[in-house]
Order: sequence, then C-alpha cells, then structure tokens
Amino acid sequence: MELTYYGHSTFAAKVGGKNLLFDPFISPNEKAKNIKVEDIRADYILLSHGHQDHMADAMPIAKNSDAMIISNYEIVSWFGGQGHSKGHPMNHGGKASFDFGQVKYVNAIHSSVLPDGTYGGNPGGFIVYSEEATFYFAGDTALTLDMQLIPRFAKLDFAILPIGDNFTMGYEDAIIAAEFIQCDKILGVHYDTFPYIEIEHQKAKEAFATVGKELILMEVGETRNF
Ligand code: NI
Ligand code: MN
Repeated sequence: MELTYYGHSTFAAKVGGKNLLFDPFISPNEKAKNIKVEDIRADYILLSHGHQDHMADAMPIAKNSDAMIISNYEIVSWFGGQGHSKGHPMNHGGKASFDFGQVKYVNAIHSSVLPDGTYGGNPGGFIVYSEEATFYFAGDTALTLDMQLIPRFAKLDFAILPIGDNFTMGYEDAIIAAEFIQCDKILGVHYDTFPYIEIEHQKAKEAFATVGKELILMEVGETRNF
C-alpha cells in the first residue's frame, strides 16, 4: 500500500484504488511549506477529531475533490452545516463498508472541539481493512487499555501512532501501545511540529528496536510502500 506523509498527523493512503487522506493539516504547518494543498486530491477524508491541527485543510480539499468526509457524527454534521454535506458519520465501535474496504471507528483518549467552538464529538481512531493491508490510525490519544481490544478486531500490517508526547502519548507509551495492538511496524506521527512535541529521533527509534519493533519516521512529502 502506497502511503505519503504530509507532516504532523497528515498522510494519504492509496486503498483499493481510492485516495484516502487523513487529518489534513498542511497550510498552517511550517514544516510542510513545500506541499501544495491545491494539488492534493482525495476520494475520502478521514478526520480523527475536530482540532485545527487535524482538519485545517479539510474543507478546501473536500470541495476541490468532492471528497466524502468520514468522521464522527458531530464533525460530519458540522461539515454539512458549512456547505459540504458529502459525509459518512460514525461513532465508536461502529464499522462501515466503502468501495475501498471497511472502516471501524475506535476509541481515543483526547478531546475534540471544532474551530468555531462547536462540540466536536468524542475523538477517535480508525482501523482500515482492505485487500492490500489492514492498518490502525490512532489519531490523538493517550495510551489506553482499549487498544488491547484491537487484535480481536484486526490483524494489523502496520499502525500509525502519535509519539510526540505532551498532547498525546510519547514514544515510550507508543511502544506499549504497539504491544497492545500486536503490531511491529509503526509509523510515528504528531511530533516535531511545535516546540512542545519535539523528540529525539534516534532515541525513539532505538527504544522501539530494543523490543524488536520498527519505528518509521518519514520525511514530509515522502512516499513509501507499506
Ligand atoms: Ni488534538
Ligand atoms: Mn493534535
């Protein structure tokens, strides 16, 4: 599966021939200044929660691409109120089928409010099931025992976990999360964007390697096969 990293927690995955874009935060991100938002096309935009650093560019990309927003009910409804009604609302524990595969919306321990102060529902993560790969994007979350349920739902090929600490779990907790979800291949996100979440890359990678797991840190704009 082809995955492109756009910085912070933003990435695109080609799944079942469709372009899935996750948590687009590009134009306000100094570290992603070489990425042109207007060039990004998506068939689906998946939003883990309502914070600005996860959806700043969602509306322009959704409009440009006529993309379907997949998120919790409150966020999908908010987009409808803002003039983009092509959405699929979900809530925790629910699974839905799409033309690229299936999506399950799972728990995250965090907060969620929309840019204008509207209640953003409860934050979540996604498990994406497809013919090419099954993966978990945790969104913004603390380490939580709920992650122990994930191996019952899915045999993961890889997972995307926040590792920047302060607002989410740090890499030490992400290693425990990787154990809970029984996954050895982790793409780290939500680090280095702001001074609060700067991390030492080598130290984090070594900590994963010590327990036989791989921490992948991609360059902004880089594409890799997973
Ligand atoms: Ni957040
Ligand atoms: Mn965040």
